[in-house]
Amino acid sequence: MITIISCTNRTQSLSRIVAEYYQSLLAAHNTKAQIIDLQGLPKDFVFSALYGNAGKNESFNVYSDQVAQGEKFVFVVPEYNGSFPGVLKAFIDGLEYPSKLADKKVALVGLSSGMQGSALALSHLTDILSYLGANLLGMRVKLPKVEENLKNGKVTNELYNQLLQEQIQKLITF
Ligand SMILES: Cc1cc2nc3c(=O)[nH]c(=O)nc-3n(C[C@H](O)[C@H](O)[C@H](O)COP(=O)(O)O)c2cc1C
Repeated sequence: MITIISCTNRTQSLSRIVAEYYQSLLAAHNTKAQIIDLQGLPKDFVFSALYGNAGKNESFNVYSDQVAQGEKFVFVVPEYNGSFPGVLKAFIDGLEYPSKLADKKVALVGLSSGMQGSALALSHLTDILSYLGANLLGMRVKLPKVEENLKNGKVTNELYNQLLQEQIQKLITF
C-alpha cells in the first residue's frame, strides 16, 4: 500500500486531482494506494494538535496514525510562493517526533501554474524529509503549467505521463 499525500488544504485543489490520477496509474500496476488529503484536516489543528496538545486531537491522530503505518509515500506538492504550502509544514510539525517518516520511502511530485513545477518546493521539502530520516527517491516529477496539462481528471501532456510512469516503476521497486 502506497500513501499519497495531497499537500494543500485548498478546496478544489489540483493537487487532489493529480493525487487521484497518480492513484489510478498505480492501480494499473496492481499497486494499491490511499490518499491523505490535507483538505480534511481539523480546521483548528494548528492550535489543538501541536506542541503541548500533541496527541490530544483525535481527528488529527487519524492522520498521524496513517503516516505512522505507511511504508511508501508520494507527496503531491503544489508551489505556493516559491515553496510548498505552509499547511504541509504545520502538518509535519504535528506528527510524532522522532518522526515516523524515518526510513520510509518517499517520492515527490510537484505542480505549479508557472514554469518551475514546484522545483524549489521539492528541494525545500527534500531537506526537511531527509532531516527526518526519510529516503527520497532521486527522480522527482515536476508538472509546470499544470492547468494547461490536466483535463477531466487526467494528465494530458505526453512527456508528463512518461515521467510519471517512469517514477512509478522506480517507486514500486524502491
Ligand atoms: C497561495 C498560493 C500561492 C501560489 N504561488 C505560486 C507560485 O509561487 N508559483 C506558481 O507557479 N504558482 C503558484 N500558485 C499556483 C499553484 O501552484 C497552482 O494553483 C497549482 O497548480 C496547484 O495548486 P492547488 O493544488 O492549490 O490547486 C500559488 C497558488 C496559491 C493558492
